[in-house]
Amino acid sequence: MCGIIGCIGVKNAPEVIYEGLKRLEYRGYDSAGCAFLSHGKITVVKREGRVEKLLPLLKGLKADMGIGHTRWATHGLPSDENAHPHSAGGISIVHNGIIENYLPLKEDLILKGVKFLSDTDSEVVAHLIAQNYDGDLLKALFKTVKLLKGSYALMAICEDEERIVVAKNKSPVILGLGDGQYFCASDEPALAGLADKISVLEDGDFAELTAHGVKIFDESLQPVSREVSPNLAVCQSLGLDGCPHYMLKELREVPMSIEATHKAFNSIEAKLSKALKDVTRIIITGCGTAYHASLIGKRYFECFARIPVECETAGELRYKNPVMDANTAVFAVSQSGETADTVEVARLALSMGARVIAVTNSRLSQLTRLATVVVPVASGPEICVCATKSYTGQITALYLSAIVLAGESLDGDRAKELLKIPPVCRSTLESLDMRSLAHVCASSTGVYFMGRDIDYAVALEGSLKLKEITYIPGEGYPSAELKHGTLALIDVNVASIFIITDPALAGKSENAVEQVLSRGGKVAVITTVKEVKERLSNKLQVILLPECDKYLSPLVTAVAIQTLAYKTAVVLKRDPDKPRNLAKSVTVE
Ligand code: AGP
Repeated sequence: MCGIIGCIGVKNAPEVIYEGLKRLEYRGYDSAGCAFLSHGKITVVKREGRVEKLLPLLKGLKADMGIGHTRWATHGLPSDENAHPHSAGGISIVHNGIIENYLPLKEDLILKGVKFLSDTDSEVVAHLIAQNYDGDLLKALFKTVKLLKGSYALMAICEDEERIVVAKNKSPVILGLGDGQYFCASDEPALAGLADKISVLEDGDFAELTAHGVKIFDESLQPVSREVSPNLAVCQSLGLDGCPHYMLKELREVPMSIEATHKAFNSIEAKLSKALKDVTRIIITGCGTAYHASLIGKRYFECFARIPVECETAGELRYKNPVMDANTAVFAVSQSGETADTVEVARLALSMGARVIAVTNSRLSQLTRLATVVVPVASGPEICVCATKSYTGQITALYLSAIVLAGESLDGDRAKELLKIPPVCRSTLESLDMRSLAHVCASSTGVYFMGRDIDYAVALEGSLKLKEITYIPGEGYPSAELKHGTLALIDVNVASIFIITDPALAGKSENAVEQVLSRGGKVAVITTVKEVKERLSNKLQVILLPECDKYLSPLVTAVAIQTLAYKTAVVLKRDPDKPRNLAKSVTVE
């Protein structure tokens, strides 16, 4: 959700905070703001909109410490007033999370004469710290969080003290340790190039950053130490590599994501095999794209290992009193490893004695730290809000996990088939021409993606991608279900895109194609079956992809549906990297 960063002991805090916020912007871009302390005075600058709007306001500002925030609005519209930091009595705070009990706290403060300047839940925190302040900012923060319910990563500064204080519950905080320079931020990449070493705060932790170092305290404010590890983000490229958007750059990294995930899997095979011993029940869960990858994983587990698998979105599963026990393995799939619903399912599963297998792209996330075993998705940082290479990385990780569960060798035929896929994706990326279909989608009032079996799971993802970055309504639908209702929506303004990869089911899907054509609908087919092209290309647009293993076809069709969504967004002049109303990491309910 929101991204926060703080620094102390640096030469130019405005520059450090601005650059950090640019890196954190994928977490929310409704507004941005920062507060700097210099010579006992706090200066706050904040604006509705993107981080770059801060640049002119930062000119000429000098400070060696500060805090910053980039917002994904939860309470209160995007506006200058609702932008963080929020301030009261010489104290400024930034907050990532949701204060669930902010209303009674706010009413109480109003009765005491406090005037609120924003509609946010976060502003109560600034006022409470100011009320609790008695010459010690850390103690005031400690007293304040005891009153809060919900999730928070909080950073506060005060005009009377040269330190940044931090509190964490459920929302992530990473501390960065440099040479006489110290940092705190929502994630590791924000600290790339700033701190060589990092420490991850646990829930309930507090921290104090001064120009002399960092101290960490537990929930009773007793000193505690947390593991220090190297900041790997310094080595990772966060640039655009000459691409106009992160989405295109990351789409081009799909083959690398599959290869790297495959390679990384070898190191955990034995651990995973041990964790899956005697498992009789498998649940796979995730949200959004991660859920769609989970649906494909379900097919792998069931087909390769012949174990029935339940697959449900994490937001649903966590409130269903699910059946889980010591013989259950829950695969929690999440790019960020911070998605609140997915993390909560993992906690619930552990509390019921189940084993949790995290399938994640984030080595420092909450999910990683909770899990019994981590199956790494080695996609590298994904900046674009819309998931591309992490989806294919997740599918790869689940495919390999299913091979292990089935007791098959990682040198066997299935793994060999996987090795063939990255070059196929590479050549597809080079040769795919989606321009004409993108124009068809851009001029449609609705776009339906349809498929059967594994193609239906990809159809769901194709639809999500297109909705997310073009704002064109649509749905992912099983081809066979079309005639049971959705066909009523088909007219000349609606486009239907069929995904067909299984020669055995191709004829059935072609029936559905004909049904749409005969109602005057626009139709296109994405297929790996050349006979389908031969049969249909005289009546509609057919995108022919290289033939490949049926189970691995989602890795190839993913490239096609992601490219289509990207090209359509470009035609409509939408920003694919920062779609409206969204944030990459959904750390609140
Ligand atoms: C995908 O394009 C979306 N941005 C979204 O559905 C995302 O996959 C979902 O929020 C889950 O995120 P996670 O993988 O970090 O848990």
